[in-house]
Amino acid sequence: MTISPLRNSNSERDIASLIHPYTHLAQHAHSGPLTMVSGEGAYVFDDQGNRYLEGMAGLWSASLGFSEQRLADAAYRQLTTLPFYHLFNHRSTEPAIELAERLLQIAPEGLSKVLFANSGSEANDQAMKIVWFYHNAIGKPEKKKIISRWRGYHGVTVGAGSMTGLPANHALFDLPIDRVLHTDSPSYYHYAQPGESRSAFVDRIVGNLEALIEREGPETIGAFIAEPVNGSGGVLVPPEGYFERIQEVLRKHDILFIVDEVITGFGRTGSMFGSETYALKPDIMTVAKALSASYLPISATMISETIWETMREQTEKTGVFAHGVTYTGHPTCAAVAVETLKIYEERDIVGHVREISPYFMERLYALNDQPLVGETRGVGLIGAVEIVADKETKRPFDAALAVQPRIAKAVLEQGVLLRSIREAIAICPPLIIGKNEVDLIFDTLEAGIRQVAAEL
Ligand SMILES: Cc1ncc(COP(=O)(O)O)c(C=O)c1O
Repeated sequence: MTISPLRNSNSERDIASLIHPYTHLAQHAHSGPLTMVSGEGAYVFDDQGNRYLEGMAGLWSASLGFSEQRLADAAYRQLTTLPFYHLFNHRSTEPAIELAERLLQIAPEGLSKVLFANSGSEANDQAMKIVWFYHNAIGKPEKKKIISRWRGYHGVTVGAGSMTGLPANHALFDLPIDRVLHTDSPSYYHYAQPGESRSAFVDRIVGNLEALIEREGPETIGAFIAEPVNGSGGVLVPPEGYFERIQEVLRKHDILFIVDEVITGFGRTGSMFGSETYALKPDIMTVAKALSASYLPISATMISETIWETMREQTEKTGVFAHGVTYTGHPTCAAVAVETLKIYEERDIVGHVREISPYFMERLYALNDQPLVGETRGVGLIGAVEIVADKETKRPFDAALAVQPRIAKAVLEQGVLLRSIREAIAICPPLIIGKNEVDLIFDTLEAGIRQVAAEL
């Protein structure tokens, strides 16, 4: 196949060559892509010159927008000093050391060492492997099962994809693997029984978790994984008391807690980590996305001192820790992440989120009065609007009507990018947005909902 960039549009060239993740492949051959070419602040521009406010920060991730010169400079400096070196076999680089130090300074108490990777999926995959390594090392080789939650999202690699609790990630891919179990989603809106109070709902789903642990045998359960706020499952904010109760159960049965902060890390919920917002005590915590403001791929798995000590001691017996990828702690990615963390600190990004969040939430909750809106939910600068056919019964629309994608399209046509996820429209803008941009997002979304409601 020969493709001439001169004779073909981006669209034709894309269709002829690319496989798109999370895309309806057959439909893409007709619709083609929306091709972005540049960015400025919280806005991106397509190849036709149209400007869009990135209401999803790309993939819940571009925390500092799309034109932060300091991050470009940090990458350039490192690329022209030492573009690549690795961390295998006792080698190190200064950016990787500095990034690990800075992460540990801001991380929840008790986390003491950092293992880098390139994506959120890998960070969770290696968290899973560390759980297995640790339990082998302490002489509990049967304590290997991982419990995650339906609607949880932890990535797509074989391990992380198994922990993800979304049917589309399992069907046809032969997942989950058999060491992964799933328990209830904490979404009160979706799963409360008629007349059930929030606290009764929490009692019931925590009881279900405990029953699952007892059925399987606590001696077989190695870890429980959860996101503080579940993003890709529909922006599900935990009900009050949920995590407190879950953590009691985990402690009682000696089960490690993996907290997936891939979306919630670095200010999204109004604290540096979602663990702070919801008083979580992770044994293992994973971060990615806003770690580098999405400018370059890098992720990390942070572990407790107890796990670290065991891993260290184990290598006295069996030799090297036989895990790691070529780009673990890639120095250019690490240099950009160091600069990102400096910016968060100097500009008090968490303080900015706290300041703007009440207005963001006010505008979000105001959508409850709109047609089709079953529920609005959110925290910090992440939110979602649940779209239903019947507000009273919460009945969703027939998927064939594609109501949520139509709303997202109507919004896009007015220059705002939001994402349709299951029955909801998700909102997760760059953390740098101001009040005017919050207004633009919600004015446009309100108009989009009204337009589609009128068409139905
Ligand atoms: C909570 C969470 N964990 C893990 C991942 C996977 O990260 P990645 O896509 O970088 O592999 C994502 C991606 O959206 C996520 O939202």
